[in-house]
Amino acid sequence: MIQRQTNALEPTVIGPLLEELRKECQEHRFSVAPNPCVGAAIISGDRVVARGFHERWGSAHAEVNAMNAARAAGVDEAEWDAIIVTLEPCSSEGKTPPCLQAILDAGIPRVGIGAVDPDPRHSGAAVSLMEEAGLEVCVFQEPDTFEEENAAFCGWVSPDRVRAARPWTIAKWAQTRTGQLSPPEDVGEGRWISGPESLAEVQVLRGEVDAILTGVGTLKSDDPRLSLRSPGTGEAPLRVVLDSYLRTPTDAALFRAPGTEESVGEVVILTLAGADGPRWRALEESGARVVGLRGDEEDRVSLVEVHLWLWEQGLRRVLLEAGPRLLESHFERDLIDQVRVYTGDVFGGEGVSLGHTLAGLSLAARLDRESGQDAVLEGFLLQED
Ligand SMILES: NC(=O)c1ccc[n+]([C@@H]2O[C@H](COP(=O)([O-])OP(=O)(O)OC[C@H]3O[C@@H](n4cnc5c(N)ncnc54)[C@H](OP(=O)(O)O)[C@@H]3O)[C@@H](O)[C@H]2O)c1
Repeated sequence: MIQRQTNALEPTVIGPLLEELRKECQEHRFSVAPNPCVGAAIISGDRVVARGFHERWGSAHAEVNAMNAARAAGVDEAEWDAIIVTLEPCSSEGKTPPCLQAILDAGIPRVGIGAVDPDPRHSGAAVSLMEEAGLEVCVFQEPDTFEEENAAFCGWVSPDRVRAARPWTIAKWAQTRTGQLSPPEDVGEGRWISGPESLAEVQVLRGEVDAILTGVGTLKSDDPRLSLRSPGTGEAPLRVVLDSYLRTPTDAALFRAPGTEESVGEVVILTLAGADGPRWRALEESGARVVGLRGDEEDRVSLVEVHLWLWEQGLRRVLLEAGPRLLESHFERDLIDQVRVYTGDVFGGEGVSLGHTLAGLSLAARLDRESGQDAVLEGFLLQED
């Protein structure tokens, strides 16, 4: 193949471009975790003709989005002189096919990389394979910058954490200004704290996880559907209820068939092994898969067992949408990796306040923003060593 003359991998060109991509991709940090933030650009001659980012967990990676953007801009693959990407491309099949293959298939002759993959299971693999395939590969390694900007990812792929097989867990809740998860009886039908914009955001979030986890307490008081009600927001996640003594009503809303424009995942009830046989069968007849797990010291389903079970099912990103009891149990056992908290314009409310718990969290990459009338807090939890 005759290669075009280009200074596409010239450090003075790539350095500022990588910096821009790294900054821009941070915008998606909460939607892609535990994946890292990644940005990519396609260079043709001395022009950046397209950019792409990893925007949602489970969806296309930055390299593929950049290539698609270049095609959409009408720039032919034959004109692509280099791809610049902030992190070494993936070389193994995950939720999406490996980006390494997409780069080879497109025939891009040069690759500029911002950082080698810190995951010891993949580190350097794509660089070697691309070099073996005859590509010009240039690594502009700035490890400290990458680690600083992707602390959650680097912690997640560290050998100690990898041994603890459990999914990335996002705790999401709505609270009043005083930290209660249920509003005063005369507000929001005694149930709704956050506004329509926030409810719409949660629909998007549900489409970005493999499973939603809740407790039987929430099921009995709110009778939620835990469904996806907006078409196109993603695949419906598994709906998992923690119910040690099978108190889930057999006519719970979870068991109803989906309406039009609604999609629902399978219902799984995690209970204590040896729980009441007739109740077990009745819930199975209602449509649930019932799974028996070991108990904890308080004779409830053990959360460590729950998260191990989720992992073994191949579930990698889980949304905890529960009441204060299950949320507190998760925090006590360091099983939360990310939070999204909606604080509505409501004072007071019913039940215990999570205000103290929230104030005590060590958060990284914290973001405070607004959603309609609600204040939203997002962040990654710094796990204690
Ligand atoms: N604002 C919000 O975002 C939001 C979200 C959800 C719920 N809520 C509100 O929260 C209230 C319900 O609170 P809740 O605390 O009862 O509900 P919950 O946290 O959803 O469920 C608690 C139940 O989960 C079961 N469970 C099983 N294993 C457990 C474990 N290892 N640790 C802790 N619990 C375990 C326990 O029942 P067993 O022992 O029988 O298994 C426990 O009673 C309702 O008023 C609801 O409206 C608010």
